Amino acid sequence: MQLQDVLFSQGFGTRRVCAGLVQQGWVSVSSSVNPGELTLCTDATTEFEPEGLVMHIQGVPWPYHEKAYVLLNKPAGTECSQKPSTYPSIYTLLPTPLRQRPTKSAIQGVQAVGRLDQDTTGMLLLSDDGQFIHRMSSPKKHVAKVYRVSAKHAVDQSQMDRLLAGVVLDDDPRPVRAVACNLLDANTLELTLTDGKYHQVKRMLAAVGNRVEHLHRSRMGGMALPEDLAPGRWRWLSRSELELLGPNSAK
Ligand code: URA
Repeated sequence: MQLQDVLFSQGFGTRRVCAGLVQQGWVSVSSSVNPGELTLCTDATTEFEPEGLVMHIQGVPWPYHEKAYVLLNKPAGTECSQKPSTYPSIYTLLPTPLRQRPTKSAIQGVQAVGRLDQDTTGMLLLSDDGQFIHRMSSPKKHVAKVYRVSAKHAVDQSQMDRLLAGVVLDDDPRPVRAVACNLLDANTLELTLTDGKYHQVKRMLAAVGNRVEHLHRSRMGGMALPEDLAPGRWRWLSRSELELLGPNSAK
């Protein structure tokens, strides 16, 4: 693939912009096999095998990814919308190329796998792979999502029993239930859900007579939010992490 096309596929702008980046001497390349060996490339039509290629654009390394699968530790006070109404969008926490990667759909760039409320913190996945987004967010696939819930009132056994047995929310007569519910301390629960309705945890807690004070998503499928990823920071998911997320989670 020509270097200008590799850059274009990664979201560095139009083909013309990408060719310009190369011609102006802003792009060096190395391979993941030999990361220390940087070669400046000023011919935008030079052919490269993209898999394993690491480009350095104005000195910043960018490993080629055919599809983007990233993890963000969502901070409080951010909205999972491209067009936020009140708080800054989580998309502003990502580098521009991730937001302008060309995709086959009308929407450019990576999209969040489901949404978290503005005040919810923790594990959020983003991708430009529509099938992955669908598989991870479909209630039929039963991907477990684990939430740490700080409740306003002490949680009692009858509330936990009702969360596990199922509660009816106002928009659907079918009860929704937690697949697991563990008490961490008097006011803190760890709740595992496999569906993802709007404000689901908050509405479930309200249905049993309690109230969510703070909500944090700590795990999806078999993968926990890494402790070394600070709030507001993102990183690429590794192949093994993608496998942990669920069966056939990525191509
Ligand atoms: N349930 C909620 O109520 N809010 C979230 O952000 C996620 C799950």
